[in-house]
Amino acid sequence: MTMKKQINLLRGWPNPSLLPTVAIQTAAQAALSDPAISTPGLLYGPDPGYQPLRESISSWLSRFYGNPLQDGETAADRAERICITGGASQNLACALQVFTDPLYTRAWMVAPCYFLACRIFDDSGLKMTAVGEGEEGVDLKALEDGLQAYERDVEIAETLKRPKPWSKIYRHVIYLVPTFANPSGRTMSLTCRMSLVHLARKYDALIISDDVYDFLQWPTSSTSQPLTTAILPRLVDIDRTMEPVPGEDSYGNAMSNGSFSKISGPGVRTGWAEATPKLAYGLSQCGSSRSGGAPSQLTATIIDSLLRSGDLERHIVTELLPGYKRRYQLMLSAVKRHLVPLGVTVMEDKIDGKNVFGGYFLWLELPRLVDAEVVSIACQEREDLIVAFGKMFEVEGDESIKFSNSLRLCFAWVDEEDLEDGVQKLSRALRDVMDGKASIKTLKDDMGEFK
Ligand SMILES: Cc1ncc(COP(=O)(O)O)c(C=O)c1O
Repeated sequence: MTMKKQINLLRGWPNPSLLPTVAIQTAAQAALSDPAISTPGLLYGPDPGYQPLRESISSWLSRFYGNPLQDGETAADRAERICITGGASQNLACALQVFTDPLYTRAWMVAPCYFLACRIFDDSGLKMTAVGEGEEGVDLKALEDGLQAYERDVEIAETLKRPKPWSKIYRHVIYLVPTFANPSGRTMSLTCRMSLVHLARKYDALIISDDVYDFLQWPTSSTSQPLTTAILPRLVDIDRTMEPVPGEDSYGNAMSNGSFSKISGPGVRTGWAEATPKLAYGLSQCGSSRSGGAPSQLTATIIDSLLRSGDLERHIVTELLPGYKRRYQLMLSAVKRHLVPLGVTVMEDKIDGKNVFGGYFLWLELPRLVDAEVVSIACQEREDLIVAFGKMFEVEGDESIKFSNSLRLCFAWVDEEDLEDGVQKLSRALRDVMDGKASIKTLKDDMGEFK
Protein backbone atom coordinates (compact mmCIF):
# COMPACT_ATOMS: atom_id res chain seq x y z
CA MET A 1 0.00 0.00 0.00
CA THR A 2 1.43 3.42 -0.92
CA MET A 3 1.37 6.00 1.84
CA LYS A 4 -0.18 9.34 0.95
CA LYS A 5 2.27 12.22 1.20
CA GLN A 6 1.30 14.67 3.91
CA ILE A 7 0.65 18.22 2.67
CA ASN A 8 0.44 20.98 5.25
CA LEU A 9 -1.50 24.05 4.13
CA LEU A 10 -1.91 25.26 7.71
CA ARG A 11 1.68 26.15 8.46
CA GLY A 12 2.35 29.89 7.98
CA TRP A 13 6.09 29.60 7.41
CA PRO A 14 8.20 30.49 4.37
CA ASN A 15 9.30 27.55 2.23
CA PRO A 16 13.03 26.83 2.90
CA SER A 17 13.81 27.64 -0.77
CA LEU A 18 12.75 31.25 -0.03
CA LEU A 19 15.22 31.83 2.81
CA PRO A 20 18.10 34.25 2.02
CA THR A 21 20.70 31.93 3.54
CA VAL A 22 23.68 33.10 1.48
CA ALA A 23 22.90 36.79 1.99
CA ILE A 24 22.58 36.20 5.76
CA GLN A 25 25.88 34.31 5.75
CA THR A 26 27.56 37.28 4.02
CA ALA A 27 25.94 39.75 6.43
CA ALA A 28 26.95 37.67 9.46
CA GLN A 29 30.52 37.44 8.15
CA ALA A 30 30.65 41.23 7.67
CA ALA A 31 29.21 41.91 11.13
CA LEU A 32 31.35 39.38 13.00
CA SER A 33 34.63 40.22 11.31
CA ASP A 34 34.53 43.91 12.29
CA PRO A 35 35.17 44.40 16.03
CA ALA A 36 33.41 47.79 15.87
CA ILE A 37 30.25 45.80 15.11
CA SER A 38 30.85 42.41 16.72
CA THR A 39 31.83 43.77 20.14
CA PRO A 40 28.63 45.76 20.71
CA GLY A 41 26.77 42.92 19.01
CA LEU A 42 27.96 40.45 21.64
CA LEU A 43 27.38 42.77 24.61
CA TYR A 44 24.10 44.05 26.09
CA GLY A 45 22.46 46.49 23.69
CA PRO A 46 20.87 49.86 24.47
CA ASP A 47 17.22 49.62 25.55
CA PRO A 48 15.73 50.90 22.24
CA GLY A 49 18.01 48.61 20.23
CA TYR A 50 21.12 48.69 18.03
CA GLN A 51 21.27 52.32 16.83
CA PRO A 52 22.62 51.64 13.29
CA LEU A 53 19.70 49.25 12.70
CA ARG A 54 17.18 51.79 14.00
CA GLU A 55 18.55 54.21 11.40
CA SER A 56 18.75 51.74 8.52
CA ILE A 57 15.18 50.54 9.19
CA SER A 58 13.97 54.10 9.30
CA SER A 59 15.50 55.03 5.93
CA TRP A 60 14.34 51.78 4.30
CA LEU A 61 10.77 52.32 5.59
CA SER A 62 10.73 55.92 4.45
CA ARG A 63 11.52 54.68 0.91
CA PHE A 64 8.97 51.87 1.03
CA TYR A 65 6.15 53.89 2.58
CA GLY A 66 7.04 57.09 0.70
CA ASN A 67 7.72 59.27 3.75
CA PRO A 68 10.79 61.31 2.77
CA LEU A 69 12.53 63.25 5.54
CA GLN A 70 10.97 66.65 6.11
CA ASP A 71 12.81 70.00 6.31
CA GLY A 72 15.34 69.91 9.13
CA GLU A 73 14.59 66.27 9.97
CA THR A 74 17.55 63.86 10.10
CA ALA A 75 17.68 60.06 9.81
CA ALA A 76 18.59 59.98 13.52
CA ASP A 77 15.42 62.00 14.36
CA ARG A 78 13.34 59.54 12.39
CA ALA A 79 15.04 56.64 14.14
CA GLU A 80 13.67 57.92 17.47
CA ARG A 81 10.36 56.50 16.28
CA ILE A 82 11.82 52.99 15.98
CA CYS A 83 12.44 50.45 18.72
CA ILE A 84 14.15 47.13 17.89
CA THR A 85 12.17 44.10 18.99
CA GLY A 86 12.44 40.32 19.10
CA GLY A 87 9.75 40.06 16.40
CA ALA A 88 6.08 40.97 16.29
CA SER A 89 4.96 38.36 18.85
CA GLN A 90 7.54 39.29 21.45
CA ASN A 91 6.86 42.99 20.94
CA LEU A 92 3.10 42.56 21.24
CA ALA A 93 3.70 41.08 24.69
CA CYS A 94 5.99 43.98 25.68
CA ALA A 95 3.56 46.61 24.38
CA LEU A 96 0.72 45.09 26.40
CA GLN A 97 2.94 44.92 29.49
CA VAL A 98 3.84 48.60 29.27
CA PHE A 99 0.67 50.27 27.92
CA THR A 100 -2.27 48.25 29.23
CA ASP A 101 -3.71 47.25 32.57
CA PRO A 102 -5.88 44.19 33.23
CA LEU A 103 -8.41 46.17 35.29
CA TYR A 104 -8.54 49.33 33.20
CA THR A 105 -7.93 48.34 29.56
CA ARG A 106 -10.30 46.51 27.18
CA ALA A 107 -8.97 44.75 24.07
CA TRP A 108 -10.83 44.78 20.72
CA MET A 109 -9.72 42.11 18.28
CA VAL A 110 -10.60 42.37 14.61
CA ALA A 111 -11.91 38.95 13.59
CA PRO A 112 -11.13 36.60 11.97
CA CYS A 113 -8.08 37.14 14.09
CA TYR A 114 -4.43 35.98 13.97
CA PHE A 115 -5.09 33.13 16.37
CA LEU A 116 -1.79 33.10 18.25
CA ALA A 117 -2.26 36.73 19.32
CA CYS A 118 -5.11 35.80 21.68
CA ARG A 119 -2.86 33.99 24.13
CA ILE A 120 -0.54 37.00 24.30
CA PHE A 121 -3.50 39.18 25.30
CA ASP A 122 -4.67 36.53 27.76
CA ASP A 123 -1.19 36.37 29.33
CA SER A 124 -1.54 40.10 30.04
CA GLY A 125 -4.88 39.47 31.75
CA LEU A 126 -6.86 41.39 29.12
CA LYS A 127 -10.49 40.65 28.25
CA MET A 128 -11.07 40.51 24.51
CA THR A 129 -14.06 41.48 22.42
CA ALA A 130 -14.42 40.47 18.76
CA VAL A 131 -15.19 43.04 16.04
CA GLY A 132 -15.87 41.94 12.47
CA GLU A 133 -13.84 43.00 9.43
CA GLY A 134 -16.90 44.27 7.55
CA GLU A 135 -16.33 45.14 3.90
CA GLU A 136 -13.57 47.69 4.49
CA GLY A 137 -11.28 45.97 7.00
CA VAL A 138 -13.03 46.72 10.28
CA ASP A 139 -16.72 47.14 11.08
CA LEU A 140 -16.43 50.70 12.41
CA LYS A 141 -20.06 50.96 13.46
CA ALA A 142 -19.87 47.79 15.58
CA LEU A 143 -16.58 48.97 17.05
CA GLU A 144 -17.89 52.39 17.99
CA ASP A 145 -21.11 50.91 19.41
CA GLY A 146 -18.97 48.58 21.50
CA LEU A 147 -16.66 51.33 22.70
CA GLN A 148 -19.62 53.55 23.61
CA ALA A 149 -21.42 50.76 25.44
CA TYR A 150 -18.26 49.94 27.33
CA GLU A 151 -17.78 53.55 28.42
CA ARG A 152 -21.45 53.75 29.43
CA ASP A 153 -21.79 50.44 31.25
CA VAL A 154 -18.40 49.68 32.74
CA GLU A 155 -17.24 51.84 35.58
CA ILE A 156 -13.80 53.33 35.08
CA ALA A 157 -11.70 50.97 37.11
CA GLU A 158 -8.61 51.74 39.11
CA THR A 159 -5.46 50.55 37.43
CA LEU A 160 -3.68 47.60 38.97
CA LYS A 161 -0.31 48.94 37.84
CA ARG A 162 1.43 51.91 39.41
CA PRO A 163 1.87 54.93 37.10
CA LYS A 164 5.31 55.10 35.41
CA PRO A 165 6.89 58.26 34.02
CA TRP A 166 7.73 56.52 30.70
CA SER A 167 4.32 55.06 29.94
CA LYS A 168 0.62 55.65 29.90
CA ILE A 169 -2.18 53.15 30.31
CA TYR A 170 -4.65 53.22 27.43
CA ARG A 171 -8.33 52.61 28.06
CA HIS A 172 -8.58 50.42 24.94
CA VAL A 173 -6.34 48.43 22.62
CA ILE A 174 -7.41 47.58 19.08
CA TYR A 175 -5.47 44.70 17.51
CA LEU A 176 -5.54 43.97 13.79
CA VAL A 177 -3.60 43.06 10.64
CA PRO A 178 -4.77 45.77 8.22
CA THR A 179 -2.78 44.73 5.14
CA PHE A 180 -2.97 41.24 3.56
CA ALA A 181 -4.47 40.01 6.81
CA ASN A 182 -3.76 36.72 8.48
CA PRO A 183 -6.08 34.86 8.03
CA SER A 184 -8.48 36.58 5.62
CA GLY A 185 -6.04 38.18 3.14
CA ARG A 186 -8.16 41.35 3.35
CA THR A 187 -6.68 44.87 3.18
CA MET A 188 -8.30 47.80 4.94
CA SER A 189 -9.33 50.74 2.75
CA LEU A 190 -7.81 54.19 3.20
CA THR A 191 -11.04 55.79 4.42
CA CYS A 192 -11.49 53.02 6.95
CA ARG A 193 -7.90 53.53 8.17
CA MET A 194 -8.54 57.25 8.68
CA SER A 195 -11.83 56.67 10.50
CA LEU A 196 -10.21 54.07 12.71
CA VAL A 197 -7.50 56.52 13.79
CA HIS A 198 -10.26 59.09 14.54
CA LEU A 199 -12.02 56.53 16.72
CA ALA A 200 -8.80 55.57 18.51
CA ARG A 201 -8.15 59.22 19.34
CA LYS A 202 -11.71 59.77 20.52
CA TYR A 203 -11.79 56.76 22.87
CA ASP A 204 -8.18 56.71 24.16
CA ALA A 205 -7.27 53.55 22.25
CA LEU A 206 -3.89 52.28 21.13
CA ILE A 207 -4.10 50.58 17.73
CA ILE A 208 -1.61 47.72 17.54
CA SER A 209 -1.18 46.92 13.90
CA ASP A 210 0.77 43.84 12.82
CA ASP A 211 2.24 45.10 9.54
CA VAL A 212 4.23 41.95 8.89
CA TYR A 213 3.01 41.18 5.34
CA ASP A 214 3.17 44.70 3.85
CA PHE A 215 6.29 44.00 1.74
CA LEU A 216 4.87 40.83 0.13
CA GLN A 217 2.54 42.25 -2.53
CA TRP A 218 1.99 41.73 -6.24
CA PRO A 219 -0.35 42.92 -8.98
CA THR A 220 -3.14 40.49 -9.84
CA SER A 221 -3.55 42.05 -13.29
CA SER A 222 -1.29 41.05 -16.20
CA THR A 223 1.39 43.68 -15.44
CA SER A 224 4.68 42.10 -14.42
CA GLN A 225 6.20 45.16 -12.72
CA PRO A 226 7.08 44.34 -9.09
CA LEU A 227 5.42 46.51 -6.47
CA THR A 228 8.29 48.05 -4.54
CA THR A 229 6.39 50.73 -2.62
CA ALA A 230 3.44 50.38 -0.28
CA ILE A 231 -0.03 50.70 -1.77
CA LEU A 232 -1.48 52.39 1.32
CA PRO A 233 -0.16 54.29 4.33
CA ARG A 234 0.07 52.40 7.59
CA LEU A 235 -2.21 53.34 10.48
CA VAL A 236 0.87 54.69 12.26
CA ASP A 237 1.59 57.00 9.27
CA ILE A 238 -1.97 58.29 9.37
CA ASP A 239 -1.72 58.92 13.10
CA ARG A 240 1.58 60.76 12.53
CA THR A 241 0.21 63.08 9.81
CA MET A 242 -3.54 63.49 10.32
CA GLU A 243 -4.62 66.77 11.97
CA PRO A 244 -4.37 67.44 14.82
CA VAL A 245 -0.85 65.99 14.50
CA PRO A 246 0.29 64.52 17.85
CA GLY A 247 2.61 66.88 19.73
CA GLU A 248 6.05 65.95 21.04
CA ASP A 249 4.64 64.99 24.41
CA SER A 250 2.02 62.65 22.91
CA TYR A 251 2.14 58.86 22.93
CA GLY A 252 -0.07 58.82 19.84
CA ASN A 253 -2.74 56.23 19.11
CA ALA A 254 -1.07 53.72 16.79
CA MET A 255 1.92 51.40 16.86
CA SER A 256 3.18 49.51 13.82
CA ASN A 257 4.50 46.07 14.69
CA GLY A 258 7.04 45.10 12.02
CA SER A 259 9.02 41.89 11.58
CA PHE A 260 11.85 40.36 9.56
CA SER A 261 10.22 36.91 9.96
CA LYS A 262 8.32 36.91 6.66
CA ILE A 263 10.98 38.70 4.59
CA SER A 264 14.17 37.04 5.84
CA GLY A 265 13.38 34.10 8.14
CA PRO A 266 11.36 33.63 11.35
CA GLY A 267 14.45 32.24 13.09
CA VAL A 268 16.11 35.68 13.10
CA ARG A 269 13.59 36.67 15.82
CA THR A 270 14.09 40.35 15.03
CA GLY A 271 11.58 43.06 14.27
CA TRP A 272 10.82 46.68 15.00
CA ALA A 273 8.06 48.83 16.40
CA GLU A 274 7.30 52.26 14.99
CA ALA A 275 5.29 54.86 16.88
CA THR A 276 5.72 58.34 18.33
CA PRO A 277 9.19 58.81 19.89
CA LYS A 278 7.53 58.88 23.29
CA LEU A 279 5.79 55.53 22.80
CA ALA A 280 8.91 53.98 21.25
CA TYR A 281 10.92 55.08 24.28
CA GLY A 282 8.28 53.77 26.71
CA LEU A 283 8.36 50.42 24.93
CA SER A 284 12.14 50.28 25.34
CA GLN A 285 11.62 50.66 29.10
CA CYS A 286 9.74 47.35 29.34
CA GLY A 287 11.23 45.45 32.29
CA SER A 288 12.80 42.71 30.17
CA SER A 289 14.57 45.27 27.92
CA ARG A 290 15.76 47.32 30.91
CA SER A 291 17.29 44.19 32.36
CA GLY A 292 18.61 42.49 29.23
CA GLY A 293 18.90 45.34 26.76
CA ALA A 294 16.95 45.29 23.51
CA PRO A 295 16.14 41.79 22.28
CA SER A 296 18.08 40.14 19.44
CA GLN A 297 21.14 42.37 19.78
CA LEU A 298 23.59 40.18 17.81
CA THR A 299 21.04 39.41 15.09
CA ALA A 300 20.29 43.14 14.88
CA THR A 301 23.89 43.77 13.74
CA ILE A 302 23.51 41.09 11.05
CA ILE A 303 20.17 42.40 9.83
CA ASP A 304 21.66 45.90 9.73
CA SER A 305 24.39 44.66 7.42
CA LEU A 306 21.77 42.83 5.30
CA LEU A 307 19.78 46.06 4.91
CA ARG A 308 22.76 48.37 4.26
CA SER A 309 24.19 46.12 1.54
CA GLY A 310 20.83 46.24 -0.29
CA ASP A 311 20.69 42.44 -0.14
CA LEU A 312 17.40 42.31 1.76
CA GLU A 313 15.55 44.57 -0.67
CA ARG A 314 17.10 42.65 -3.58
CA HIS A 315 15.97 39.35 -2.07
CA ILE A 316 12.43 40.68 -1.64
CA VAL A 317 12.23 41.96 -5.23
CA THR A 318 14.01 39.17 -7.07
CA GLU A 319 12.98 36.11 -5.03
CA LEU A 320 10.04 36.74 -2.75
CA LEU A 321 7.73 38.85 -4.90
CA PRO A 322 7.86 36.59 -7.98
CA GLY A 323 7.95 33.45 -5.79
CA TYR A 324 4.87 34.33 -3.74
CA LYS A 325 3.01 35.66 -6.77
CA ARG A 326 3.60 32.35 -8.57
CA ARG A 327 2.50 30.33 -5.53
CA TYR A 328 -0.61 32.49 -5.10
CA GLN A 329 -1.54 32.06 -8.78
CA LEU A 330 -0.98 28.29 -8.65
CA MET A 331 -3.16 27.91 -5.58
CA LEU A 332 -5.86 30.31 -6.76
CA SER A 333 -6.22 28.61 -10.13
CA ALA A 334 -6.37 25.20 -8.41
CA VAL A 335 -9.10 26.54 -6.10
CA LYS A 336 -11.04 27.84 -9.11
CA ARG A 337 -10.65 24.51 -10.91
CA HIS A 338 -11.38 22.08 -8.05
CA LEU A 339 -13.32 23.92 -5.35
CA VAL A 340 -15.39 26.69 -6.93
CA PRO A 341 -17.46 24.08 -8.88
CA LEU A 342 -18.37 22.59 -5.46
CA GLY A 343 -19.79 25.93 -4.31
CA VAL A 344 -16.71 27.30 -2.56
CA THR A 345 -15.98 31.03 -2.78
CA VAL A 346 -12.56 32.62 -2.35
CA MET A 347 -11.64 36.10 -1.10
CA GLU A 348 -10.02 38.03 -3.95
CA ASP A 349 -9.62 41.42 -2.39
CA LYS A 350 -9.64 44.60 -4.46
CA ILE A 351 -7.83 47.31 -2.57
CA ASP A 352 -9.35 50.75 -3.16
CA GLY A 353 -9.87 49.76 -6.81
CA LYS A 354 -6.29 48.44 -7.23
CA ASN A 355 -5.72 44.86 -8.35
CA VAL A 356 -3.20 43.83 -5.72
CA PHE A 357 -2.91 40.83 -3.42
CA GLY A 358 -0.28 39.83 -0.93
CA GLY A 359 0.69 37.96 2.19
CA TYR A 360 0.54 34.21 2.72
CA PHE A 361 -3.10 33.12 2.75
CA LEU A 362 -6.30 32.39 0.84
CA TRP A 363 -9.57 32.48 2.80
CA LEU A 364 -12.34 30.21 1.57
CA GLU A 365 -16.05 30.11 2.31
CA LEU A 366 -17.56 26.63 2.04
CA PRO A 367 -21.14 26.05 0.93
CA ARG A 368 -23.69 26.94 3.61
CA LEU A 369 -24.11 24.26 6.30
CA VAL A 370 -20.78 22.59 5.55
CA ASP A 371 -18.83 22.74 8.78
CA ALA A 372 -15.23 23.66 8.08
CA GLU A 373 -13.95 21.82 11.16
CA VAL A 374 -15.57 18.61 9.89
CA VAL A 375 -13.95 19.16 6.50
CA SER A 376 -10.59 19.78 8.13
CA ILE A 377 -10.88 16.50 10.09
CA ALA A 378 -11.88 14.67 6.89
CA CYS A 379 -8.84 16.19 5.12
CA GLN A 380 -6.55 14.87 7.83
CA GLU A 381 -8.13 11.43 8.21
CA ARG A 382 -8.75 10.64 4.55
CA GLU A 383 -6.10 12.62 2.67
CA ASP A 384 -3.30 13.42 5.14
CA LEU A 385 -3.89 17.10 4.38
CA ILE A 386 -3.65 19.69 7.13
CA VAL A 387 -5.80 22.84 6.78
CA ALA A 388 -6.82 25.53 9.25
CA PHE A 389 -10.56 25.92 9.90
CA GLY A 390 -12.40 29.15 10.73
CA LYS A 391 -13.10 28.40 14.40
CA MET A 392 -9.36 28.68 15.06
CA PHE A 393 -9.58 32.37 14.16
CA GLU A 394 -12.43 33.26 16.51
CA VAL A 395 -11.54 35.48 19.44
CA GLU A 396 -10.83 33.61 22.67
CA GLY A 397 -13.52 34.35 25.25
CA ASP A 398 -15.84 36.02 22.71
CA GLU A 399 -17.03 33.59 20.08
CA SER A 400 -19.91 35.91 19.09
CA ILE A 401 -18.46 36.21 15.58
CA LYS A 402 -18.25 32.74 14.06
CA PHE A 403 -16.36 31.39 11.05
CA SER A 404 -17.74 27.86 10.99
CA ASN A 405 -17.85 27.87 7.16
CA SER A 406 -14.33 29.14 6.51
CA LEU A 407 -10.96 27.60 5.77
CA ARG A 408 -7.54 29.24 5.55
CA LEU A 409 -4.99 27.92 3.07
CA CYS A 410 -1.35 28.98 3.22
CA PHE A 411 0.54 29.04 -0.08
CA ALA A 412 3.93 29.95 1.46
CA TRP A 413 5.08 26.72 3.11
CA VAL A 414 4.66 23.63 0.92
CA ASP A 415 6.71 22.98 -2.22
CA GLU A 416 5.19 24.60 -5.29
CA GLU A 417 4.40 21.26 -6.92
CA ASP A 418 2.26 20.30 -3.88
CA LEU A 419 -0.03 23.33 -4.07
CA GLU A 420 -2.37 21.89 -6.68
CA ASP A 421 -2.26 18.40 -5.09
CA GLY A 422 -3.18 19.94 -1.74
CA VAL A 423 -6.21 21.69 -3.20
CA GLN A 424 -7.24 18.48 -5.00
CA LYS A 425 -7.04 16.55 -1.72
CA LEU A 426 -9.25 19.21 -0.15
CA SER A 427 -11.78 18.95 -2.95
CA ARG A 428 -11.97 15.14 -2.52
CA ALA A 429 -12.44 15.45 1.24
CA LEU A 430 -15.04 18.19 0.81
CA ARG A 431 -16.93 16.09 -1.72
CA ASP A 432 -16.87 13.13 0.69
CA VAL A 433 -18.28 15.27 3.50
CA MET A 434 -20.97 16.69 1.22
CA ASP A 435 -21.85 13.19 -0.04
CA GLY A 436 -22.01 11.89 3.54
CA LYS A 437 -19.18 9.41 2.89
CA ALA A 438 -16.81 10.75 5.51
CA SER A 439 -17.37 8.71 8.66
CA ILE A 440 -16.48 11.43 11.09
CA LYS A 441 -17.59 11.27 14.68
CA THR A 442 -18.14 15.02 14.87
CA LEU A 443 -20.33 15.10 11.77
CA LYS A 444 -23.30 17.29 12.58
CA ASP A 445 -26.96 16.37 12.16
CA ASP A 446 -27.65 19.40 9.99
CA MET A 447 -25.14 18.04 7.44
CA GLY A 448 -27.98 15.72 6.43
CA GLU A 449 -28.81 17.63 3.29
CA PHE A 450 -25.51 16.50 1.75
CA LYS A 451 -25.90 12.81 2.52
C1 LIG B 1 -0.28 38.67 11.87
C2 LIG B 1 0.96 38.06 12.42
N1 LIG B 1 1.56 38.65 13.46
C3 LIG B 1 2.68 38.13 13.99
C4 LIG B 1 3.23 36.98 13.51
C5 LIG B 1 4.48 36.46 14.15
O1 LIG B 1 5.52 37.35 13.87
P1 LIG B 1 6.97 37.18 14.49
O2 LIG B 1 7.59 35.97 13.85
O3 LIG B 1 7.66 38.45 14.10
O4 LIG B 1 6.83 37.02 15.96
C6 LIG B 1 2.64 36.34 12.43
C7 LIG B 1 3.19 35.07 11.91
O5 LIG B 1 2.49 34.25 11.36
C8 LIG B 1 1.48 36.89 11.87
O6 LIG B 1 0.85 36.32 10.84
